[in-house]
Order: sequence, then structure tokens, then C-alpha cells
Amino acid sequence: MQIGGGRIPVYAPVLGDEELENVVAAVRSGWVSSLGTFIPEFEREFATFCDVREAVAVSNGTAALHLALLALGVGPGDEVLVPSLTFIATANAVRYCGATPIFVDADRATWCIDPAALDALVTPRTKAVIPVHLYGHPCDMDPILDVARRRGIAVVEDAAEAHGAEYRGRRVGAFGAIGCFSFYGNKIMTTGEGGMCVTDDPLLAERLRLLRDHGMDPKRHYWHDIVGYNYRMTNLQAAIGVAQVKKLPGFLEKKRRLGAWYAELLAPLAAAGRIVMQPEAPWAKSVFWMCSVLLAEARVSRDEVRARLHDRGVDTRPFFHPVHLLPPYERRERLAVAEDLGGRGLNLPSGLGLDRSHIERVAKALTEALDP
Ligand SMILES: Cc1ncc(COP(=O)(O)O)c(C=O)c1O
Repeated sequence: MQIGGGRIPVYAPVLGDEELENVVAAVRSGWVSSLGTFIPEFEREFATFCDVREAVAVSNGTAALHLALLALGVGPGDEVLVPSLTFIATANAVRYCGATPIFVDADRATWCIDPAALDALVTPRTKAVIPVHLYGHPCDMDPILDVARRRGIAVVEDAAEAHGAEYRGRRVGAFGAIGCFSFYGNKIMTTGEGGMCVTDDPLLAERLRLLRDHGMDPKRHYWHDIVGYNYRMTNLQAAIGVAQVKKLPGFLEKKRRLGAWYAELLAPLAAAGRIVMQPEAPWAKSVFWMCSVLLAEARVSRDEVRARLHDRGVDTRPFFHPVHLLPPYERRERLAVAEDLGGRGLNLPSGLGLDRSHIERVAKALTEALDP
């Protein structure tokens, strides 16, 4: 990635010779679609990374969520609890099943789904809950798993943004019945487009594989007992994935270093009450997918701050709009914390190719931008 003295993007993938060599090998092999050796290799490596028995590679993270819900039997008339503060794909996957997303407020301590709000939202129709490990910070899983066990609902983790994040020493993705990951180009590791379902349950893995491939009986060509999907990953994507997953431990170290640099260099702004730093709960190891802050003052609007940062060569993103406010899902309810965070949050440059001098530039630019 060329950054130098130029613009600092919010994110850019880091790809090297290993990815290139694997893609060349895949092309030379002729296996460019969804057969070929890189797919099972990528699944094995990713399962090992997550410390789970099974991994099922799919075409993207949204497909992973959709298949996970289908594999768990979510269908029309069911309800699924999802945080409102998330990327819309989490809710869309519920809707694809004909089910209804029930939006849950955020927890100020983690910016993730508020576990304390769940119990009251469970109804006889509730089939599942999807905790989203937002911006790389793990959800508080114990109380979520406790509600799920007591109320008999499934847990599907949306770990699209949190490869390698740890909750009480264990990597996310392995807590629920199924964990879902995205390998989109701005994720901690990428395959261009791509996704993965992980699970400890071989029967669920079998179901996911069936649904991924048009529901075709693996032992009988062109025999389909169910309507499935074409959600397969290609061998070309998996070739990149195999190279990336080997680099993941190094990527995660770099992400934590970025988080620490921001914490240090933005501390004066936080101490002056002008921003609120990204939380990291005592039980959490965040992977800081998006290093983020909340703007704490109304003197300069977020749009204005973003424009001033842009003028100084620093790209940013606003937080996701809470999904319960978006047109396809518009609800009357107020989810005060999600709305507050969604209105004030700012994603800062977080790419793996950044070094300390870039973060210093961002911190200086943000300090200037916050001056009224
Ligand atoms: C929380 C969350 N869930 C799901 C997705 C969907 O993943 P994909 O873009 O690979 O379909 C994303 C991101 O893109 C995401 O951020």
C-alpha cells in the first residue's frame, strides 16, 4: 500500500508474494471455481485458528450469516435478536429467511449488543440471537449464552469484524452454535469477497455444506432433496485465504499496536473531554478492526470534523446508522445508546500498512479539526 505523505485511507488490504504465488498455482491447476485443494486447506487452517472442529468457506460474510440461520432452522414467522448498531447485513440475513429481526440496544461499555436487554425481548417466536463483535471488540458472551440456554434459543456469532478477538482468553466464533466471518477487502484478513461459517457440530457443518451447494446430495450427482443456494467460495479466493490466514497472527499484533498508538496519542483529547476512546473491557482482547472514537462535543459537527480531516488527507467513516432507523426496517422504538453512538462515532484510519507516523498525523489532524 502506498501511503507515504499522501492520503491516509480508512483501510487497505496488505497482500504479498505468497498470495500471488497461490493464485498463480490455482490458475495453473485449472481449478478456478469451487473445487480445488485451496478450499479444504483454507477451511482446515481457519478452523484451527478459531479452535473449532469445522469450517465451511462461503462466498461472503452475509451468505455465512444466511446459511447459519437456515442451518439452525430459522424461517418465516420466527424472530431473531440482533443489535441495531451493526452493518445492515446482520439484519438482512434474518430477513432473507423470512424471519423478523428484533433490534436490541447497544451496551455503552462495549458498543456491542446489550446483554441486559435480551431477556425482555425473548418471545415464544424467538429462534436465535446474533451477537455482533462490533469494530473488533468481543461481546460480553457469558450473559448472552446464559439467556440463550435458559430461553432455548440459538446463538449465531457475527464475527465479520473480529477475526482473532478474544473473550476471556478464547477466540470469538467458537462460542455460539455457528460463528460467521467476512473476508471482504477491508477486513482484518481478506479473500477479496468471501466468508466462513465455523462450528463444533459436524451435523451443522454437513447442513451448511449442503445448503452452500444447491442442496445437492454429496453422494448422488444432481440429486437435490432441498432448495439450496450457490454460496460457494472459489479456489482462487481460498488461495488468497490460505496465504492470509498464515499471516493472521502477525496482522493481529499490528492491529493491537495501532490500537495502543491511538490510545496514547489521543489521550490528551480524551482527557480534555473532547472525545471518548474506544472501550476495551477487562475481559476482552479487541482486535481494533476499526480504531474508533466518539466525538464528545457538539461545538463541531461530525460532518464538519470529517470534512476537516479530509482536507488534511485523513479519510474517516461515520459509525453505522442504527439499523432500526433505516428505511427497510424503520421502527418506532427508541434505542437510546445505539442512536447516541451511531450519531457520534467516527472510524479512523485502521489499515495494517499504517505505522506510528501515520497515527501521529491522524491525531494531529483530529486535534486541529476539533477546534471550533
Ligand atoms: C458486522 C458485519 N456483518 C456482516 C457483514 C457482511 O460481510 P460481507 O460484506 O462479506 O457480506 C459485515 C461486513 O461487511 C459486517 O461488518
